[in-house]
Amino acid sequence: MKILILGSGGREYSIAKAILNETEHELFFQPGNGATSALGTNLNIKDYNDLADFAKKNEIELTIVGSEAPLVDGVVDIFKSHGLTIFGPSKEAAKLEGSKVYMKNFLAKYNIPTARYIETASIEEAFKFTDTLSPPIVVKADGLCGGKGVIIAQNKDEAKIAISEMLSGKSFGDAGLKIIVEEFLDGYELSMFAVCDGDDYILLPAAQDHKRLLDGDEGPNTGGMGAYAPTPLVDEVLYQKVKDRIIRPTLEGMKKENAPYEGVLFIGIMVVNNEPITLEFNVRFGDPECEILMPLMTSSVADMFLKAATSRLSEIKVEFSSQFAVGVVMASQNYPFSSSIPAEIIVDESHHKEINEFTHISYAGVSEEDGTLYANAGRVLVSVGLGDSIKEARDRAYLRCGQVHFAGKKIRTDIAYQAL
Ligand code: AMP
Ligand code: GLY
Repeated sequence: MKILILGSGGREYSIAKAILNETEHELFFQPGNGATSALGTNLNIKDYNDLADFAKKNEIELTIVGSEAPLVDGVVDIFKSHGLTIFGPSKEAAKLEGSKVYMKNFLAKYNIPTARYIETASIEEAFKFTDTLSPPIVVKADGLCGGKGVIIAQNKDEAKIAISEMLSGKSFGDAGLKIIVEEFLDGYELSMFAVCDGDDYILLPAAQDHKRLLDGDEGPNTGGMGAYAPTPLVDEVLYQKVKDRIIRPTLEGMKKENAPYEGVLFIGIMVVNNEPITLEFNVRFGDPECEILMPLMTSSVADMFLKAATSRLSEIKVEFSSQFAVGVVMASQNYPFSSSIPAEIIVDESHHKEINEFTHISYAGVSEEDGTLYANAGRVLVSVGLGDSIKEARDRAYLRCGQVHFAGKKIRTDIAYQAL
């Protein structure tokens, strides 16, 4: 198949790698990164109508959208209006991530468990509700803020400052002019992914992410410094609760809203007293969760996306390896605060059978020049290890980390600690 993948991160790289592992496909990336050019052709076509024209002329049979911004901008609607097959939610359905107010009101309307909240644009109302909560208190900007729009305030004063700064437009511009104030949920967090075709879905193995920069969950929030799956923190009973109480009502609800949900539904879950509570939805895979879930799929990844994009998920059976996967992020020197000077990446050649067979690298923030890769931004790559236990997978991922060198590399050394 000729497949176009939208995005530039490790997520898109890992989808491409999984697809190429199966059989011959011809891949295109918009825009891709310095390493995806070795897997296919990187494009530079920013306008979505022009991109759809390219897809038509080049007989692209399937487009997979990796990142949220094109979805929220409506790329799926544009491609469909050109008669193209594309995997991802419509602009309307992407509001589940694009607007936290939409998402919370949707959850409330369909009785899907979530934290108690108010939605408001009024500072008085927000302060009044804040006074009814006991800290910590969670304040969220409505719109997309590049993963920075959630403040966990440790006391009421801090919450009120966050509220004032959001509602005045000071912290996030228009994205913060409406907010959610909600109760803090104390439990453990999971990332769950359902690949949906509007009616049916496939639930992937549950993962755990590590959002803080430093070991022991210290330091600032990041996009995620590592992940592992499947997590033993989820048993069949919990999977079933997530299906019955969150995924099924979401698919039914979105149909009633005339926005049937096609694409990846990423459910951020807090498990409180064995009950799964919805923290948030994202309308795409998680990063680095995608990088560890793709290698666990033993049935065809390309076919799953194609069937999901053409409302035929019920025709296939998706299968997963019985192994575990652990992904360790290597980030650039100044992540998550600012960009870093490009640094040459050197990967030692391995003569170690275990490393060659059970690990690989998924590249994200890299550029390429004359055949050399440079770490140039944010999260640079993910070292992925597979194994028959989480410990084995993790040991292997760290073995591979030891072979990757670039100036200023930053990693956590405790990925998957919750499971060990
Ligand atoms: P989000 O940007 O919505 O993914 O939220 C970022 C992170 O904030 C989540 O991954 C949680 O760790 C945390 N968070 C969000 N809402 C709550 C809540 N109500 N209670 C506790 N933690 C939360
Ligand atoms: N790793 C979490 C995210 O992609 O939002």
